[in-house]
Amino acid sequence: MSDDALEYVQQNGERFLEELKQLLTIPSISTLPEHLGGIRRAAEWLVAHMETIGLSNAQVMDTGGHPMVYGEWLGAESAPTVLVYGHYDVQPVDPEDEWESPPFEPTERDGFLYARGASDDKGQMFAQLKAIEALLATERKLPVNVKVMLEGEEESGSPSLASFLQSNKDLLAADSVSICDGSMLGPAQPAISVALRGLISAQVNVRGPSHDLHSGSYGGTVHNPAQAVAEIVAALHHPDGRVAVPGFYDRVRELDAAERADLEKAGYTLEDWQRETGMTKSWGESEYSLSERIAARPTLEINGIYGGYSGEGTKTIIPAQAGAKITCRLVADQDPDEIAELVVEFVKEIGSNSVDVEVSVKSESPAVLTKRDVPQMLAAVRAYEMVYGVKPVFTRDGGSIPAVAMFQQVLGVPSIMLNLGLPDDGYHSPNERFKIDLFFKGIQTLAQYYRELAVVG
Ligand code: BES
Ligand code: MN
Ligand code: MN
Repeated sequence: MSDDALEYVQQNGERFLEELKQLLTIPSISTLPEHLGGIRRAAEWLVAHMETIGLSNAQVMDTGGHPMVYGEWLGAESAPTVLVYGHYDVQPVDPEDEWESPPFEPTERDGFLYARGASDDKGQMFAQLKAIEALLATERKLPVNVKVMLEGEEESGSPSLASFLQSNKDLLAADSVSICDGSMLGPAQPAISVALRGLISAQVNVRGPSHDLHSGSYGGTVHNPAQAVAEIVAALHHPDGRVAVPGFYDRVRELDAAERADLEKAGYTLEDWQRETGMTKSWGESEYSLSERIAARPTLEINGIYGGYSGEGTKTIIPAQAGAKITCRLVADQDPDEIAELVVEFVKEIGSNSVDVEVSVKSESPAVLTKRDVPQMLAAVRAYEMVYGVKPVFTRDGGSIPAVAMFQQVLGVPSIMLNLGLPDDGYHSPNERFKIDLFFKGIQTLAQYYRELAVVG
């Protein structure tokens, strides 16, 4: 990076951090209807911010769901165009009493900034804006054309994104997409994600009697909905950890030896896993390594079970209903529609005819594998190398970003996932954080990346 832009980042670093803290005070939780106001405020804050840093045409755009934030700088004639993507929505904060400082009161401790969204994704997304600001402020122009699109419902599965892209194809036309929404291997080892898992989510609702019943008067005669949910949930896995839904693994693409060796190069150990999870013993498909299970094997998870009485003391009832929330992580080449159908069929079948079982499938996105041989990937490698002094490694992530498949399918452009966070940033957990030093290194990397893009495409 030119000394000017670098110096600008250094001189304005404190202000950058204060601005990020402002954004982090806004509770933009996309999955909870009572936070609609927070979503709207975050979107408006970002539009105003885009204007301050010199983007044009900045606006909140309607999507039918939560609003999209858009801004652009298109003054680099005959240079390529990069679509900068991030998400300003965040996950809920519960369990709230486990936070050492309140989730929407960003707090610095030991070189980290703690807040919901600090790393996922407000902090990483903001680094992209600050890199644009640093270049524009010092050079009055950008090396590439930039279109910034910030989503407000990534954490709810991006339900409006495909149709938004479809109806704004011309506005969003670009040569590649830049995304910062994942983790490096460690503070000195950057990483670019080349694979993400897909996701389907389902909700199971079991209804029994028309109202809660006295368990003494009716127990033993009514199929208890809470028990039926337990039976369903228990039937979803074999004891060895494999998913029991017939056909679930039929299309799964196995890694070849080279891909497997590549995965293990990251050196993820049982100790890393123990530190991150707070668990001692692992579980799951033991014939696959921990890395492979996370990166390239599909799973089915019970996210929550509800129903009946869970307050203090005893309440002798048979609950009228109960349910469970379930998600599946998908890998190449599983088809989300097909897997959803298999899960629904299987669950309905177990839930005998003595209770009423309803299954609804909520959001679906396929796994993605990004191409490594696109020129933009080389640009990203060079940019990281310049800032960190080492080449980034290519990683396969267990998480999902539905937008990536849509950019490929609807806009026909590759996404480059330049990760800025760390594996223990605590995405979706209490005490989420972002390493402040990596926020600034991220800004430098991105400024350099936009430069390199001008050369390669
Ligand atoms: N940034 C994450 C995805 C991620 C997680 C990437 C870990 C790399 C490592 C993203 O915000 C996320 O949490 N996505 C959801 C998507 C879902 C709600 C459709 C996820 O993976 O659960
Ligand atoms: Mn994210
Ligand atoms: Mn997330």
